Amino acid sequence: MSLLFKNTKSGWKKESSELLLSRLVEIQAQDGFCSEVRLRNLAEEMQLPLTQVYEVVTFYSFLRTHPAGHHTLMICNSPSCFVNGSEKLLQNLENYLHIKRGETSSGETISLRCTSCIGCCNEAPAALLDDLPLTKLDTQHPDQWLKESYANIKEHEI
Ligand code: FES
Repeated sequence: MSLLFKNTKSGWKKESSELLLSRLVEIQAQDGFCSEVRLRNLAEEMQLPLTQVYEVVTFYSFLRTHPAGHHTLMICNSPSCFVNGSEKLLQNLENYLHIKRGETSSGETISLRCTSCIGCCNEAPAALLDDLPLTKLDTQHPDQWLKESYANIKEHEI
């Protein structure tokens, strides 16, 4: 369990990060994401530096600081995927979708995010499109497999 440093009248005090994490999860459940305003209010309420609140919210890949799109594409950037081109894949996806990682495309169609290992290391690079695992991804032409994956999702949504 990690510790946070809380600014009290009597000086800095160590405090568990569990409370902060549970509050962040609560905010995301209520609002769908953790907005800057909510993070500032939470930091003030818990008497924590805003940087510590941001450290926690950006550390956990399931927490969002922006609204999610209809679909979420999470690219694994853990070691096996990294050495198999996940960084190049992310760059090509950013160019194709015209967004940066952590952002949502216009029309709120898709959110692009990074994640740690999703358990498909032997078929790297891998990703999750919503709950659908995608493996052995073509890092140079992500538009092709992304279109096919969308089609698969739509089929299963019916
Ligand atoms: S390192 Fe990417 S799936 Fe395990």
